[in-house]
Amino acid sequence: MKSLRHLSMALTLAALFSAAPALAQQSNPVVPRPISTTWTDEGAFQLTEKSAIACDAALEPQARYLQETFAASTGYNLAVIPDGKGKICLTVDTLRVPKAEGYVLEVTRKGISICGHDAAGVFYGIQTLLQHFPASIHSDKRQKGVDWTVPALRVEDAPERPWRGMMLDAARYYYDKSFVLKFIDMMAMYKLNKLQFHFIDDSGWRLEIKKYPRLTEVGAWAGSDEKRTGGYYTQDDIREIVAYAAVRGVEIIPEIEFPAHILSAVVAYPWLCCTGLQHEVPQQHFISRDLLCVGKESSLRFLRDVLDETVALFPSSYINIGGDEAVYTRWEKCPDCQALMKREGLTEASQLQGWLTNVVAGWMKERGRTVIGWEEIMMRGKVETPVVALIWHNVADSIHATAGGHKAIITPASHLYFDFPETSTPGEPQHATWMPPISLEKAYTMPVNDYDPTSTTLGVQGCIWSDQFIHGTRLQEILPIDEDRSERYVEYFVFPRLLALSELGWDKADNRDFADFTRRLTDQFARLDAKNCSYRVPEPRVTSLTENADGSYTYRLAPSVTGAAVRYTTDGTYPTVHSTLYAGEPVTVKRKSDLCAITVVTPTHYSLPLYTAPDYSAYSQYGTYTTSWQPLQVQTVPTPWRIECTGKISDNGRYEVSFIGERGTAHLRLGDLKVYKRDELIATVSQSATADPAATYAFTVDSFEAGTPFFIEVTASGDNGNDTSGLVFIKKAE
Ligand code: ACM
Ligand code: ZN
Repeated sequence: MKSLRHLSMALTLAALFSAAPALAQQSNPVVPRPISTTWTDEGAFQLTEKSAIACDAALEPQARYLQETFAASTGYNLAVIPDGKGKICLTVDTLRVPKAEGYVLEVTRKGISICGHDAAGVFYGIQTLLQHFPASIHSDKRQKGVDWTVPALRVEDAPERPWRGMMLDAARYYYDKSFVLKFIDMMAMYKLNKLQFHFIDDSGWRLEIKKYPRLTEVGAWAGSDEKRTGGYYTQDDIREIVAYAAVRGVEIIPEIEFPAHILSAVVAYPWLCCTGLQHEVPQQHFISRDLLCVGKESSLRFLRDVLDETVALFPSSYINIGGDEAVYTRWEKCPDCQALMKREGLTEASQLQGWLTNVVAGWMKERGRTVIGWEEIMMRGKVETPVVALIWHNVADSIHATAGGHKAIITPASHLYFDFPETSTPGEPQHATWMPPISLEKAYTMPVNDYDPTSTTLGVQGCIWSDQFIHGTRLQEILPIDEDRSERYVEYFVFPRLLALSELGWDKADNRDFADFTRRLTDQFARLDAKNCSYRVPEPRVTSLTENADGSYTYRLAPSVTGAAVRYTTDGTYPTVHSTLYAGEPVTVKRKSDLCAITVVTPTHYSLPLYTAPDYSAYSQYGTYTTSWQPLQVQTVPTPWRIECTGKISDNGRYEVSFIGERGTAHLRLGDLKVYKRDELIATVSQSATADPAATYAFTVDSFEAGTPFFIEVTASGDNGNDTSGLVFIKKAE
């Protein structure tokens, strides 16, 4: 495999030296990179109106997909001929292509053959073929003057991992059906095959259930009648989505979340929770403590009815039961839940979740389905029926799946939650903050073992949570995206990291090569543009950086998007699309932060600048930089100041938070400090201090939970004025 890659690189170099146009195309552009691609010397295939598509009769949906893709961009209306003859031929042959979802693609001057192990393999052969055509083949608008040729080649390919997933959170934000279809189409373009449809959460119930109509009449909507936001998918919508995905090899896996994250159902039917109290669908991001009351027969009947309608709607082998982040305080106080614990001989309320998982896994087994859920489902007591656990904390937690005889999917928040930004550059859109940024390289290089049918791990999954744009609130306007639809922001967060995920799922770990991926990615943006799929434009690439004898720095840059320009300033100011055009010359600056350069794809689509973070090494004794304060934020009367420190509080232990005054004559005066785990007060430090030069508070955390946000709140005011500014650091004591 490696040698083939070297061969293709050698061919690329040869192309550069000989400048032969035919060879110049032979640098492999495809994402995810196929196992093997060989170019043959049989010329190129020219697509014309006469290039009919022949296919096995069972492959007619895939043939029609190809026909429609060609028709939209080329304007050619190719005939589709089931069980007939044509220049383009789609077949299935499990002997010739032994691996599931695999394919062989052959292009010669005379025709194109795609032979798959199955329909998914044929679909993937089509995707690889399309990526060898000019990028505008993906457009849904008729293109003029394009030479629709593909070089002669042979590709043999199959995925390494059977699970290559994405989770879409349609509960916090209702994506209309057309966006869901587009999202599936984009997943399929990059050979992802499982969509976890997260459509139930505290903030909304989005799946029509005929037996419980209030779930969507009431639970799908937040806010007052005239201004309500939300929405839901009818059962007809779901049937359409499932069928659309099936053609593209994508299995839609419904997630029916319980026992937590179901406030929207509790609002519709208050008898579902332990207290029976009436609530409202929240308009802000909120995690409710009102769990499904596991001790009441009526809630179990509800769950069974909902799951039965779900099973009837979704043909997926898996049914996802959520199961994350339950806090058991209501169960601890509820007489029905306590009675159930007694009957079952359970000693902790958390074990009720394990009991419930066992019950539901049994029901699903009877219906021929496998239960999947967040890792908590296998961590609250022994689960007898094998389940699949989504490992979202640490990759190492998959050991619990192995120990329990279960399977695992690797979806760690630290690498594959795409609602975290790629960088901490000022100007990233509003994002989740409880983990550090996840760069493209971090996602791409996430450790994951190769697949083996006997091993625990089935594959990888990315997640896009939508609590940052709950109910379609327009996000803060940011420079690079002049759009007010949350859908564009989702695309900004998901692309291009979805392409890194695609290769994580498709390729063996040893083959991963970030430099080669980056090279192929550079060409992929034009395909995303052709699909009208937005993306985060990467900053220009630094191809070399040298420190000169006089302490200055010399940069060489390259565009990270084919055909894009690089514009820059050398005085640390934010560049615009009119700043100096980088034309390949080296640029020398006194300090690294003096160079600000952006990638400009179009005058309205460009990147954040290359960014050098301020240097806080002079403060290293105070720990990790957390935030700062500026004069405008400082009040002259004591006022609570909330500081997010998720990620800085990273385990149980003793912590110190230090406030360091930097400038101003009016010092920052501080009062009591409180520590919150999400909305739960976990420590109070009664103290008063002045940040002149430093004020330090110490507290202990003994109930750390990964993935849970932590905050501190301190009372602060300017001492006789508000011209003060300074820095806040957090340190974990040794
Ligand atoms: C999760 O992020 N709560 C699964
Ligand atoms: Zn209860």
